[in-house]
Order: sequence, then structure tokens, then C-alpha cells
Amino acid sequence: RVSKERVLNTKVMGHRGAALLAPENTLASIRAAADAGATWVEIDVYLIAEGGLIIFHDDTLDRCTTGTGVTRDARPADVAELDAGSWFSADFSGEKVPTLLDALECIQGLNLGLNLEIKHDGVDVENIVPAVLAMLRDHWKDNDNLMISSFNHAALQLCYEIDGDRHLAQLYESIPEDWQAQLESIKAYSLNCDYSRLTQSQAQAVKAAGYKLLCYTANDPQAVESHWAWGMDAVITDDPTKFAFLSA
Ligand code: G3P
Ligand code: MG
Repeated sequence: RVSKERVLNTKVMGHRGAALLAPENTLASIRAAADAGATWVEIDVYLIAEGGLIIFHDDTLDRCTTGTGVTRDARPADVAELDAGSWFSADFSGEKVPTLLDALECIQGLNLGLNLEIKHDGVDVENIVPAVLAMLRDHWKDNDNLMISSFNHAALQLCYEIDGDRHLAQLYESIPEDWQAQLESIKAYSLNCDYSRLTQSQAQAVKAAGYKLLCYTANDPQAVESHWAWGMDAVITDDPTKFAFLSA
């Protein structure tokens, strides 16, 4: 079983790769995060038609690709044809929506850690979770450099039931009253929350209970300056260059 005391070997995680520097959740974005000094990346995994697993954030394809329509209904062969870079800038035209496998290979090739966020739109937990875990078992080597996160507690519960030997992170926009019971029920490693809604007393309670504390999405170091003193372990940022002073 994973120990929640285990040291987290990063202070700076790139958000969706490095979403301010390159089109989010693409291999270019993952490489940009590494170039910018991030030591881990956060990316979103989404289950689509035919059991495909892609790195994608939205419930529809429209914002971040040349495609349209509901993400989970898309076929892998069709997604593979889409351009996921032009919307961001012409410099990234031709960038693809990565499969989970593409991303796992890229991230390990760059020696980065991975915070893999399980996305879904309220359905399919029983399908996406086993598929993601199977892919990680076969294609991710170092469990210490891996965290599985989700806003969906049921998804994390299923992760815990299938494979208790994973670092699980419960995501919250704002931390609910019963956070501790939720984290205990999945032997969580970390609580990941919105920095702007976190209070000092909440942060201190999370740390006192022995959990790692990560905050998203901070792009201005001043905005989370106090949070380090409260015990925040790592920041999830769209622009890791802003936090380069932490690894200097
Ligand atoms: O993991 C932190 C953050 O990614 C959660 O929000 O919507 O950017 O996936 P979102
Ligand atoms: Mg995310």
C-alpha cells in the first residue's frame, strides 16, 4: 500500500502540460512544461468511443480541436485526424490529440512525474477507471512518480478497490465538510484544490491529517505566496516559468 508520508518530489506541476505556453493537453504542451522547468505534469484523461483513452479536458471537441461534437462519442480514428494546435496558434498547427499511451511514453521519456486526472461527465466511471489502470500497469514504470486525481470520488473509490497501490488525489473546487472521511475512505495521498478558495485553517487541517496539499491553477507566484507557509506541497500552473525560482 502507498504511504501518504512518502515525499512528493515536485513543487511545480505543469497544468494540462503548460497550458499558457502551448496548446493544452498535447505532447507539445508536455514538452513545453519540461522546457519551462516543471518536474511533473497534470493532464486530463478522457474515455471515448471504442474504449479509446485520449488526453483531453472538455466534454466537447469544439474549443480545442478542429472537430465538433461530444467528446465521449468520438471514434479514436476520427480524433486522430483532428488538429489540436491551430486554435492556440499557427505555430502549433498539426499538433494532435494524444492518446493516453502517447502521453505516458512522452512523459517518461522526459523524466517527468505524472498527475493523471480522470475526467468524465458523470457517466462511465466503471469503464474509464479499469481502462486507465490497465494502461498504467502496462505502460507506466515508476509508481512513485504517478498520482491519479479526480473530482469524482466514485472514480477514485473504484481505483482504490481495483488497485490500492496508487497515489490517489481527491480534487475539490472548495473543500467540503466531510473531506477527511472521503480521503480516508480511499487512503488518499493528496488533496488537490483551488488555491483561491483554500483557507489557512483548511490547509493546516489537511497537513495535520498527513496529506499532501496541491493547489491549482496559479499563474502568479504572489497569489500562492502565503500558501507555501500554510503547508502547500506543490503548485499546478499553466506557466511553470513563473515558478522557476523554486527550483533555482
Ligand atoms: O488538477 C487540477 C485541475 O486540472 C483541475 O481542473 O478543470 O483544469 O481539469 P481542470
Ligand atoms: Mg485537470
